[in-house]
Formats: sequence, structure tokens, C-alpha cells
Amino acid sequence: MRRETILNTVGLRSGYGGKPVLQGVDMEVREGEIVAVIGRNGVGKSTLMKSLIGLLPVDKGSIVFRGSAMDGLSAHKRARLGIGYVPQGRDVFPRMSVVENLAVGECIAGSPAPKERLEQIFSFFPILAERRNQRAGTMSGGQQQQLAIGRVLMGSPKLILLDEPSEGIQPNIVQDIARIMVELNRATGVTVVFVEQNIDMIRAMAERAYVMDKGRITDEIMPEALEDRDAVRRYLAV
Ligand SMILES: Nc1ncnc2c1ncn2[C@@H]1O[C@H](COP(=O)(O)OP(=O)(O)O)[C@@H](O)[C@H]1O
Ligand SMILES: [Mg+2]
Repeated sequence: MRRETILNTVGLRSGYGGKPVLQGVDMEVREGEIVAVIGRNGVGKSTLMKSLIGLLPVDKGSIVFRGSAMDGLSAHKRARLGIGYVPQGRDVFPRMSVVENLAVGECIAGSPAPKERLEQIFSFFPILAERRNQRAGTMSGGQQQQLAIGRVLMGSPKLILLDEPSEGIQPNIVQDIARIMVELNRATGVTVVFVEQNIDMIRAMAERAYVMDKGRITDEIMPEALEDRDAVRRYLAV
């Protein structure tokens, strides 16, 4: 059965103060998919994520999320419509505790999370339960990444955008996070679009992948092709 499209971009162009970066990005993501966006440094992956969540205005083209055009909607409004964004570098609030960071996620989403949500997040990410009163700034990169994901889950997103979740994280924790994301996707049906350069994370999480180069999507790697580690590596190589 073909699943419904949840996110669609057509001819998306954006950039910084007149400097074009995205040169016409076309992508289509279906409900419940886990899709990677891969490519070398500087090709525009983070620019794509910022454009999708609305932190960067679109110069041309369109973004449609669950059938509605996102044009001109603030990041805030997009979050309320069900898009959760975890930026590159994670941006947890370092002086706030785990539970305080999670409460911020609830505010961003704009509506109170169901009572059981916190326990649900703790069951997926047990380390957050263990460290619930610890200041985020004192936690490891992997723990902060899990907190940043937990923070968007407070808003019950339909779509999660993750920008380089593996960055600066130990390999064994990268595998743990990939496994949890797949479990979360299976259990809740949440759609995930993630930017990544770590081949193990790409292969552990993605059903398929878009390859970006110079502000465009230049290839799509289908599930069978993702099995071929060397082929995926070639797309990431300089
Ligand atoms: N805030 C910014 N202002 C100006 N140029 C930027 C900014 N952020 C990124 N760029 C430029 O946009 C291009 C794409 O960057 P980015 O989307 O961060 O790439 P990636 O995430 O694929 O590494 C690069 O040339 C980068 O230097
Ligand atoms: Mg980036």
C-alpha cells in the first residue's frame, strides 16, 4: 500500500542575504518513512532543514506539509502543525535540567503534552529518566542528543527533522540512538527526515536516502542500494 505524502517540496530555493544555496530542491516524503539526506560538508543540507522548519525564508518554490502550503509560516507555527526540529549541534539549554528542557519542548509545541508523554519519552530514552534532574550542559554529547530528540517529542510531532544527530557522539551511542529512532518510528508511526554523514547511522536508520550536491538533490538511494556500504560511501566522499 502506498502511504500518503506528508512532506513535499517543489523547486525549493533559499539562501543567505542574496547568496543562493538551495538551487531548486524537489523531495517527497511519505507518512511513516525514515529518509536520510546525505552529502558532503557545505552542500546545503542544514540550509534545507532550516528552510523546511521556517528559520530561513524561501526565495522560490513550495513546501507542502500534510496538504497545506507552509509559505510564510513562522518556525513557531510549523512546530505547532507537527514538525519537530533538532538543529545541528542540538542546542539544549545547558543550565536547565533534563525535565526543564523537556518542558520547553512542550511550550514550543504550544499545547500541553498528554500526561503519559514524559514516561513514554523516558521509556524510549532511559538515560533521560536516570538524569532527569541533571543540568543538560554537564551531560555527554550523546545524552544531549537524546534530550534534544525528547524535547521535540513533547510536542507529539508528525515529522521530525534531525540535523546530523551523530555529530561528536561515540560510535556505540550512535548505534543506540539509531536503534531508538527506528523503534520510535515503528511504535508511533512518526516520520523522520535526517541529515547525516555517518555511514553507520545512515544504514542503521534510513529506508532510503537523498543525495545532495551544490544545493540540489542529485540522486536517490533506494533501500536495496543502501545495503551496499561502499556505494553509500562513494556518495559521501569528496
Ligand atoms: N548563516 C549563514 N550565512 C551565510 N552563509 C551560510 C550560513 N550558513 C551556511 N552558509 C553557507 O551555505 C552553504 C551551505 O551550508 P550548509 O547548509 O550549512 O551545508 P551543510 O549542512 O550541507 O554542511 C555553505 O556555503 C555555507 O558556507
Ligand atoms: Mg550542516
